[in-house]
Amino acid sequence: MSQSVLLLPGDGIGPEIVAEAERVLHKVNERFDLGLQFATADVGGAAIDAAGEPLPSKTLDQAQKSDAILLGAVGGPKWDGLEMALRPEKGLLGLRSNLELFANLRPAILYPQLASASSLKPEVVSGLDILIVRELTGGIYFGQPRGVRELEGGERQGYNTYVYSESEIRRIGRVAFEAAQQRNGKLCSVDKANVLEVTVLWREIMNDLAKDYPEVELSHMYVDNAAMQLVKAPKQFDVIVTGNMFGDILSDEAAMLTGSIGMLPSASLNAEKQGMYEPCHGSAPDIAGQGIANPLATILSAAMMLRYSLQAEEAAQAIEAAVSAVLDQGLRTADIMSEGATRVGTREMGDAVLAAL
Ligand code: IPM
Ligand code: MG
Repeated sequence: MSQSVLLLPGDGIGPEIVAEAERVLHKVNERFDLGLQFATADVGGAAIDAAGEPLPSKTLDQAQKSDAILLGAVGGPKWDGLEMALRPEKGLLGLRSNLELFANLRPAILYPQLASASSLKPEVVSGLDILIVRELTGGIYFGQPRGVRELEGGERQGYNTYVYSESEIRRIGRVAFEAAQQRNGKLCSVDKANVLEVTVLWREIMNDLAKDYPEVELSHMYVDNAAMQLVKAPKQFDVIVTGNMFGDILSDEAAMLTGSIGMLPSASLNAEKQGMYEPCHGSAPDIAGQGIANPLATILSAAMMLRYSLQAEEAAQAIEAAVSAVLDQGLRTADIMSEGATRVGTREMGDAVLAAL
């Protein structure tokens, strides 16, 4: 039976990096006889330009019908002036919420070949392997009411609502406990329970869930401390589970521990394991169109897609091995460049991964 993959290149460097991942996917599709069918659609700024909205119903429809989605990135200065509901980011957020992709897995792994690319000392980060499980369809990103209102006297006030229901906390908690079970058995739940009631409830539910996973060691940390501990002693973490906004922030931080956010893939899954896969980095408008962006996070996202949504573990591993081989060859895009290495562009990096496959 054939499986369908929807490619959503998006904005900025999105089209360049998705093009490389697409070539890699075509290659493994042939080599492993996966029977994947590909389609491409617009999202974000590209969709605003083409259709006047960041998530056209046609794109949403295609996304709902596909087995997996590979997204590049959305957003850029061109659309920054638009009102919130029409911004490119709404395309991404709309996909997440419409497909109920509540579980965002963001692994931060240090490739030994890149130890010197991290801004931290090699001994602090060598062997680093953290998984951030970020809740993706709730919290302050989606809470109502929200907006900008006018107070008596004419002053404007912006407001958002930080909400989590018990069931939302429970389902992301389960994903995190199960991930910890399959890894090193340590789960750190990050909250702000000294100030925010919603995270007092979060902590309570995590403690309750822990009873079902006696082999997992659960700890709790306030988000400010977690931000500090991540740069102080990142190897103390195995799996981190946290809400939408804290997860957004901490995952960028964790990514940088590994040398470059240009290396980190992510998976966003719903209850049916249908998933959207995207690099953790953004659209990098400052370098878009120059052919210098690092395509590896997107290529590694394609590997995650094969693993989690397309039941093609062998192909996933082949891609990951090819990426590692390319790093062994000393090939580096600008973001991970170090002394003695060979600097390559987006296309050459893609070529090298294809050759290694
Ligand atoms: C991410 C991004 C998005 C987010 C933006 C582009 C809406 O930063 O995936 O981490 O905040 O979730
Ligand atoms: Mg982010």
